[in-house]
Amino acid sequence: MNRMKVAIDGPAGAGKSTVAKIVAERLGLLYIDTGAMYRAVALKAIQAGIDLSDQESLTRLAADLDIRLNPDGRQLRVVVNNQDVTDQIRSQQVTESVSQIATIPGVRAQLVKIQRRIAQTQGVVMDGRDIGTQVLPNAEVKIFLTASLQERAERRMQELAAKGEPVNLEELKNSIAKRDARDSQREFSPLCKAEDAHVIDSTSLSVSQVAEQIVELCKAHI
Ligand code: C5P
Repeated sequence: MNRMKVAIDGPAGAGKSTVAKIVAERLGLLYIDTGAMYRAVALKAIQAGIDLSDQESLTRLAADLDIRLNPDGRQLRVVVNNQDVTDQIRSQQVTESVSQIATIPGVRAQLVKIQRRIAQTQGVVMDGRDIGTQVLPNAEVKIFLTASLQERAERRMQELAAKGEPVNLEELKNSIAKRDARDSQREFSPLCKAEDAHVIDSTSLSVSQVAEQIVELCKAHI
């Protein structure tokens, strides 16, 4: 069995999840979207009316939630306490709240524990902000995937437009920049490149070109 661990980190909207899914499929590894876990905690906190600065209650919430990714082999579904929240965790309200919750060390500790447990028994492609630095420091291949803010906002705008949710490009740029700043400047496990990560700037690359580069790096380790 292929037990390889691939860590893909980078700022919001750099294309991590799209590329990670392709790489996982090509190499027969499990894809784990760690951002979905932080989003699941944010969603449940909003639903429960918990103040987003109440660290103690949010840590308890994260510990009590039963978060499952890809349950029963259903790829890319996110289930929390037996409820499928795959679509709800992508709402704008969750997107705007999640980075505040992700600053809380107790919440991070709970989620990192689950992430490491998953990777202990199988090969994974895991994407997030702290995978190469904290969650899987021994990953065979580490990627830091970036793209210009303009490009990331344009891609996100196209995605939203395709879903019938038109947005203003400048507003989108501001919201992405704000989330990046919070993720990079937080005290615990900030978004940063692992020393041994390969940097890929996807600004002028296609999804398949990025995926191909990562697959080639991985093949050197098989
Ligand atoms: O990857 P995605 O954009 O869905 O992640 C949502 C948020 O979750 C990020 O902006 C960040 O605040 C948090 N996150 C994190 N560490 C991870 C993955 C996500 O702090 N490993």
